[in-house]
Amino acid sequence: MQEGGGRLETGKEAAAVYKTEKATLYYADFLEIAGSMEDNSVDMVFTDPPFELAGGGMKNGKLNYEGGEIFRNYGFSTKNIPFTEWIPEIYRILKSRRYFYVMTNDRNIFSIHKACVDCNFKFCELLVLDKKMTVPSTYYPKRAEFILMYRKGNYRKSHFLGSTVIEERMPRGKEKRHPTEKPVSMIEHLVLCSTLENEVCFDPFMGSGSTGEACIRADRRFIGVEIEDKWFTVSQNRIMQL
Ligand SMILES: C[S@@+](CC[C@H](N)C(=O)[O-])C[C@H]1O[C@@H](n2cnc3c(N)ncnc32)[C@H](O)[C@@H]1O
Repeated sequence: MQEGGGRLETGKEAAAVYKTEKATLYYADFLEIAGSMEDNSVDMVFTDPPFELAGGGMKNGKLNYEGGEIFRNYGFSTKNIPFTEWIPEIYRILKSRRYFYVMTNDRNIFSIHKACVDCNFKFCELLVLDKKMTVPSTYYPKRAEFILMYRKGNYRKSHFLGSTVIEERMPRGKEKRHPTEKPVSMIEHLVLCSTLENEVCFDPFMGSGSTGEACIRADRRFIGVEIEDKWFTVSQNRIMQL
């Protein structure tokens, strides 16, 4: 972790916090610090949460299909947080009439959706991220990821531009910092559609800080949490340079 952060006491655990004018980054377990975040305090949530991949993926350069084996080597610790533990916290922290965007693959979409509607989120839209490249699969080659969009409370008019299919190239090669890094321009588009200047967007699982970069580029404020030192430092350096 870089110099420049203070300390935040959160009950039993202490988490480091790094602040700039536009961003507050916590090096912490989201579930450990969630209790220190106030009800109805953020204007939008965008996150790409940790989950295990069952089957699929690559192993020793080959497709890993056998026996539905759990493919855990994801490049970060998933901590295996059930959706039912963290999604209710998001509902509590988000302001009323505001939007929650959560990324998922095809396998986790149903359990994420159930956890969301069970805590009263209203389903708004299923957005498709067309990655414009395919990865091999048992059935059809996969080319999409999904973004579930929910609102808390009543509908609020906003400026929804584009369509439910968002085409973006995924970060690759030297520009890729994190194993599941998402395109900044896609997040920036959602932030611009769902918030106003200087409003606050929150990401409880920020990884390399793509949501933070999108918010700062869009002139919004950002709060992010990351549990792993390596990814927290990547986020911190990234935000520092903007
Ligand atoms: C799918 S990645 C997010 C990648 C991010 N969208 C990006 O563009 O870099 C999920 C991140 O959540 C972090 N994570 C896992 N459990 C966590 C927890 N309990 N609290 C905070 N972060 C956590 C992982 O270390 C990982 O970096």
